[in-house]
Amino acid sequence: MPEPSQRIEDHDPTVIAVCGKGGVGKTTISAMLTRIMMARKPARVLAIDADPAAGLSTALGLPVIQTVDNIRCDLVRDLGSGNPVDRGAMLHRLDYEVTAALVEERNLAFLAIGRPEGEGCYCRVNHLLKDIIGRLAQQFDYVIIDGEAGIEQVNRRVMAAVTHLLLVSDASLKGINVCRAIQTVAASAIAYRVKGVIINRLRPQENDFLASLPLDLAPAGQIPESETVRRFDMQGQSLLTLPECRALKSLRACLDSVLQI
Ligand SMILES: Nc1ncnc2c1ncn2[C@@H]1O[C@H](COP(=O)(O)OP(=O)(O)OP(=O)(O)O)[C@@H](O)[C@H]1O
Ligand SMILES: [Mg+2]
Repeated sequence: MPEPSQRIEDHDPTVIAVCGKGGVGKTTISAMLTRIMMARKPARVLAIDADPAAGLSTALGLPVIQTVDNIRCDLVRDLGSGNPVDRGAMLHRLDYEVTAALVEERNLAFLAIGRPEGEGCYCRVNHLLKDIIGRLAQQFDYVIIDGEAGIEQVNRRVMAAVTHLLLVSDASLKGINVCRAIQTVAASAIAYRVKGVIINRLRPQENDFLASLPLDLAPAGQIPESETVRRFDMQGQSLLTLPECRALKSLRACLDSVLQI
């Protein structure tokens, strides 16, 4: 397993996009990943909530003060009003506003993307935003993106520089089929180093499921159904304060031994 310090010296951030079918645990895993990466001090972590439902904000217990999409819409509106804005000025404004939208908590910065299809879609602005988020990512060691089901917005709107695509499924054929579909789209769309599927919320009686994974999906590990995670969810507690539990240990094991992140 590489030493965390070796990773931190590397200038390119590790950008992990967590994808999968709806409800399989993407947000929970993104929040647990954030918790694990934050513990690799002095690593700086950027968590991006790319789900319009803003689930990661709740899971981390952090507020959304401004979304990237609001920033984009405001700029599109200003451009539409006929005020001439040159590229440099646009870049400067977006840079400033995206930085101001970060919610900081110790070595973590949190950014919410917001509604993916806001009115007034404007390619030039979208490209700039991609650049800006890409540049922002360079200031961090780990970037964790909690996506909507599917990877469209990660691919198109957030950043092209995903280095690790982490597929999540539950113990169901539907979940696995969505992972396969995402893997196929991603193969031609983004440059990622590692892909693997984590089977989440696995119950003891479902252990056989792992043996039935299709050969084209590399297993990255399994996370058991956890009472602690359920309790935190029920009480709306931040997963940043999740105590050591089997779910956290299992995720760390996936990162260390299989994914080597
Ligand atoms: N390992 C686990 N043990 C127990 N409960 C879990 C586990 N993983 C996820 N859950 C619970 O399952 C539910 C769905 O999880 P989560 O919201 O993370 O899924 P999601 O994939 O982000 O959903 P969506 O597609 O709606 O964004 C939540 O109530 C969460 O607390
Ligand atoms: Mg979610």
